[in-house]
Amino acid sequence: MNDRERIYSLRKEINHHNHAYYVKDSPEISDFEFDALLNELINLENKFPQYFDVNSPTQRVGSSLVDSFETIDHNYPMLSLGNTYSEEDLFDFDTRTKKIISSDFDYVCELKYDGVSISLIYENGELVSAITRGDGKKGDNVISNVRTIKSIPLQLIGDYPSKFEIRGEIFIPIDEFNNLNIEREKQDLEPFSNPRNTASGSLKMLDSTDVAKRPLDCYLYHVLGENLPSKYHFENLQHAKNWGFKISSNTRICKNILDVIDFVKKWDSERNKLPFEIDGLVIKVNDLELHEKLGFTAKFPRWAISYKFKALQAKTKLKGITYQVGRTGAITPVADLEPVILAGTEVKRASLHNEDQINKLNIRLNDYVFVEKGGEIIPKIVSVDTESRDLFSIPLEFIKLCPSCNSVLKKIDSKHYCINHSFCSPQIKASFEHFISKKAMDIDGLGGEIIDMLIENKFLTNVSDLYTLYKYRQKLIGLTKYKETNDSSKKIKGMLFVKSSSLLFAKFPSVFTKQLSIYLTNISYNFFDLKIDNNLLEIDKERIHKISNVIDNNISWFEKFLFLNSKTPGYVSLHESIKMMSFNIKDDFVLKEKILLCNYIDELEKYKDLIFYENEFQSVKQFFIKTSERNKVVLQERKVNNLIKSIEISKNKNFENVLFGLGIKHVGETVSKKLCSYAKSIDNLINMSYEEIINISDIGPEIAMSLIDFFKNDDNLELIKTLKNYGLNLEYVEVENKSNLLSGSSFVITGVFSKFSRQELKNLIATNGGINISSISQKTSYVIAGDNMGPSKKEKALNLGIKIISEDDFIKLINQ
Ligand code: IVH
Repeated sequence: MNDRERIYSLRKEINHHNHAYYVKDSPEISDFEFDALLNELINLENKFPQYFDVNSPTQRVGSSLVDSFETIDHNYPMLSLGNTYSEEDLFDFDTRTKKIISSDFDYVCELKYDGVSISLIYENGELVSAITRGDGKKGDNVISNVRTIKSIPLQLIGDYPSKFEIRGEIFIPIDEFNNLNIEREKQDLEPFSNPRNTASGSLKMLDSTDVAKRPLDCYLYHVLGENLPSKYHFENLQHAKNWGFKISSNTRICKNILDVIDFVKKWDSERNKLPFEIDGLVIKVNDLELHEKLGFTAKFPRWAISYKFKALQAKTKLKGITYQVGRTGAITPVADLEPVILAGTEVKRASLHNEDQINKLNIRLNDYVFVEKGGEIIPKIVSVDTESRDLFSIPLEFIKLCPSCNSVLKKIDSKHYCINHSFCSPQIKASFEHFISKKAMDIDGLGGEIIDMLIENKFLTNVSDLYTLYKYRQKLIGLTKYKETNDSSKKIKGMLFVKSSSLLFAKFPSVFTKQLSIYLTNISYNFFDLKIDNNLLEIDKERIHKISNVIDNNISWFEKFLFLNSKTPGYVSLHESIKMMSFNIKDDFVLKEKILLCNYIDELEKYKDLIFYENEFQSVKQFFIKTSERNKVVLQERKVNNLIKSIEISKNKNFENVLFGLGIKHVGETVSKKLCSYAKSIDNLINMSYEEIINISDIGPEIAMSLIDFFKNDDNLELIKTLKNYGLNLEYVEVENKSNLLSGSSFVITGVFSKFSRQELKNLIATNGGINISSISQKTSYVIAGDNMGPSKKEKALNLGIKIISEDDFIKLINQ
């Protein structure tokens, strides 16, 4: 056997043992023997790189880092299922189905795995794409991550169709999940919240070598394609099992709905015995021809339905309520709970929706409550155990002021809103996050920390400022922020004592002088009465005014400040008349102030005589360095360049993306499209009356009112004018074929481009009559290659003799 043959035979042998171990759960050789085979293959592949194959079992350890995932259209939409919750619902489903089908038919009952759905595409027995559900029409190709999942075959065996798609659920088994968390805790890392979110987060990671370390598994439940071996769903699954897929042995054919109900009853009581989580069952019509006949409703197939188990409940104590401010200023109360285990995972928070919900539940602080886990990530409180209510329960009063900016809240229907939209920081931040999101302007490189940093440093006040950021390129490079961390491995042990006067002076340098700060902190017990304090008369009026303003705008900060003052450690002599603040870095308390301190530490360094240390630290600088090492975010030059480039590219986004990005209440992606195609330009839309707007099909009074309100506001009109001046598209472009220049040609886009985004290239291909395809095959006419084209794609294109062109070549092609 020559080396090439040995490589091929080793790959086959290793694939066989992977299948035996991970799919059939019946290993045939020891781990030691397996490792020996794998090592032999690794050595041979290193020696003979010409035989590289991205689907070789050696590639399961993960490959290089990717910048982002390619978005691919699904060949068949990835729909979700309608739900049933009771026997009665199931009988209704059966009756509905029989109204359309008069002949006899079987059902197939399956487990409903609680993970992340994935669509795998195989060509000639090789995995060629693995697409997430995305919005159901298109998803991300996460193939580099999926290759690391050992139970997913990279190379099929047996008699498979040359091209087909198979869908399934990627999940983490419960034991593996618990082990993962034990390991994380050993490393002082925050444990993961639950298996489903961890599986979903893992699939989105950009470095597949990290994904390879996660214990992901996958059951497949749906085969799709034109040349399937059988006309029956169940049989196709059994065939897929022979091709190497992991297919559940708990799937059953049921002759009628009564059999289905037996299956439901069995799993309702036995689901906890499974080594993975399921959130229900799926009932499907077996005959695929009947699927065609039954078709789909607007959202779901009529040939399948899910049965959801009753949610599990747990009882725990309500410790407190925090209020979150959303993008539109909507206030959401969130319950802080005494941690409790629910369905194997710890629950600490639950959503309470609004004031009416709180009143309806008649809930009080310190009450015992029942929490329930539905499909949502955050569980909800379903009822209060009033019998165990004690003397210490405190009636709840909904807040009247915004928890962030202190503005008076306004109640609209059942929700409270902070209407200080332009100056309330969580709203500002969220409006940026919305504007840059994929479906809006699709600007990369502005993660949460970086937006915070740019807002705090006044580079950004409203979204139009993004388009002048390039002017500050030099200033942006090296910009630093110290972020909050919940990661205990990043916390510092030790204490730093800072005089409250120094902190005041450092935080409000334009208002407090050094003497004034010392003076004020000495009389801090009546800080809030400053305005009437006679001792202050000697300070000029303007300064009093300024101080009052600072206090009014920073009430919560001062409250904490005073509270901290009162907790001054005893051994600092008070007769020195210096009040101190302590920052015990190990403690969770005053996290915000610690960060604040870090951000002002350079300022504090000037007053080093006012600062005392304990434990690890001998100087502010040392403290600063230790803290900063762990919590520092620095804007690197490369990041700034990428950000500026991404902002520039976003100017090509369509009118509907810009309108959606403005974040007008009730104007989602679909509504935005409708409005744009009807109004044709932002100016027309601004000038439309309420009556005209509600006459547009599918646009109701709520949307119309929201648009009228939005355009009534001068700040919003000014923003639109500025965005227009910066060259954003505020006019509608009809999507029609510009030409047929590319008709009959198919294109694969790969790599990173400088002139266009991938989406723009795809649009150009489509509007010129060409076809976008996801993977290279004999049918591909051109591969448009940007930077960093993957070596395997290149090799494949070269082997098949497909033309590889640059984006410039492509421009020439469409400008012929
Ligand atoms: S069939 C068109 N079968 O549940 C129907 N789905 O709400 C395609 N799921 O997104 C889905 N186990 O992620 C099907 N045995 C199973 C399933 C299953 C879990 C998930 C899947 C889908 C969701 C449906």
